[in-house]
Formats: sequence, C-alpha cells, structure tokens
Amino acid sequence: MSDRTRRAIAVIGGTGPAGTGLALRWARAGETVIIGSRDAARAEQTAEAIRKRAGANAQVSGMDNSAACAASDLLVLTVPFAGQAALLKQLKPAIRSGSVLIDATVPLAASVGGRASRTLGVWQGSAAQQTAELVPKGVTVAAAFQNVSAEVLNGDDDVDCDVIVCSNDPNATQVAMELAAKIAGARAIDGGKLENARIVEQITALLIGLNLRHKGHGGIRITGLPDSAYKMGLVTK
Ligand SMILES: NC(=O)c1ccc[n+]([C@@H]2O[C@H](COP(=O)([O-])OP(=O)(O)OC[C@H]3O[C@@H](n4cnc5c(N)ncnc54)[C@H](OP(=O)(O)O)[C@@H]3O)[C@@H](O)[C@H]2O)c1
Repeated sequence: MSDRTRRAIAVIGGTGPAGTGLALRWARAGETVIIGSRDAARAEQTAEAIRKRAGANAQVSGMDNSAACAASDLLVLTVPFAGQAALLKQLKPAIRSGSVLIDATVPLAASVGGRASRTLGVWQGSAAQQTAELVPKGVTVAAAFQNVSAEVLNGDDDVDCDVIVCSNDPNATQVAMELAAKIAGARAIDGGKLENARIVEQITALLIGLNLRHKGHGGIRITGLPDSAYKMGLVTK
C-alpha cells in the first residue's frame, strides 16, 4: 500500500455532481473520502447518500470545507470557476503545508451566466494555474478529471474516458494518476506541465457542445501511445 492510499481524499465542493461522482467511485474502490461543503449539514447528507450507494463498508464522511482541508493533505477541488478564487483565499489558512491539491475546475462561461460550451479567458492561463497561484507555499497542484462527465461518474457503468493529468510536480502527477486509476474503466495519462491544463479545460467545453448536439455523455480516449503511458483503472465489466 502506498502512502497515498492511507490518506483520506477530501473533495472540496463535493456536494455537486462532479465531486459526488468522483467520491462515489473512490468510495467504491475502498478509499476513505471526506465530502467538503460550505455547509457541514449538506456535506453530511451527501456523504450519507454516497454511503448508501457505495455499500456498507464505504468510508465517507461530510464536513465543512475548512474542516475537510484540515483533516486531509489530499484535496480534490470541484467547485464552479466563478467561486474558485474566493473559496481558495478563504480556505488558505486551513490548507495544510505539503498537501497535494487536484483541481477539476473548468472555467466555463456558464459559471458566470454564459454558455456552457465556451470557456472564459483566465489571466494565469487556466483555472488550475490560478489555483496554483492561490494555494499556500508548499502545496502542489495537479489538474485532472476535467473531461470526465459527472453523469457517467454518478452511474454504475465503467467510465469510458481517459484522465489527462497536468502538473509541474512529479509527486502530484503520480498521486492524481493513482486516483484516476481507482475509477473503474478510466485510464490516467501524464499530460505534462500544469500549463497544459488550459488545453484540457477547453476540451471540456468542446465535449459539452458535442454532448448537447448529439445527446450523449462523451469523454476522450488518447490512442496510440505505448502501454507504459497509460495507468489503467480497474475494469469491472
Ligand atoms: N459536472 C460535470 O460533468 C463536470 C465534469 C468535470 C469537471 N467539472 C468541473 O468541476 C467543477 C464542479 O462541477 P459541478 O457540476 O459539480 O458544479 P456545481 O454543482 O455547480 O458546484 C459544485 C459545488 O460547489 C459548491 N459551490 C457552488 N458555488 C460555489 C461558490 N461560489 N463558492 C464555493 N463553493 C461553491 C457547491 O457546494 P456547497 O454549496 O455544498 O458548498 C456545489 O455543490 C466545475 O468547475 C466544473 O466545471 C464538472
């Protein structure tokens, strides 16, 4: 067992569809998960719903976002872009030095009232790079999970999508890839530096447009790389 698998995964904004879906998958894989929310009672309600779906042995609890940050040094951020910066500033004192933060945020225009199939320009280059500027020193950031549909994550089928992980820190990349590989059906790929998150985030807007046009829940698969490039998830079906 690696060090990472002994740590709880704190999903900040875990009451929404993206965070809940990721938490459900990790709970099913035997991970200990903390749902974070601005409201502790809402976090506990979501945790209970996940426990019911993931089985009697599921280790899922709920608490407010600050308590979740204080309780774990492995954070997954799943909040709308419009609230990302303010939330990170508020949580800064609670985020533990040495934490790894994995950011799934997509700067969709919808988060400020625009179209879901468009992204906003982000001064730092991407939502994940904005996060990297806002976390305390000593906290490393990886970008991942932006292309995985919450609807698919919240279902029961294997997830037919690759997870491209971008980070400037090799350990954060490895941690995010391990988490992606815990999702049945998914594969993780090292996507290089954090600046590449800008491209991955934009793919989400494209996928949303495709899903609206074709009425589906499309993801992405990267083909043609050597087997060593893919960290395979569990395949259950
Ligand atoms: N939905 C998808 O298919 C999908 C897939 C991949 C990535 N993403 C990205 O993942 C993020 C979350 O997606 P989602 O669909 O789960 O979003 P969401 O439902 O709009 O928001 C997730 C949670 O964030 C919290 N939140 C909402 N507004 C906030 C604010 N202003 N400040 C702080 N917290 C706030 C809420 O939790 P509390 O009210 O309980 O605090 C909410 O339940 C987004 O950036 C999205 O682009 C989404």
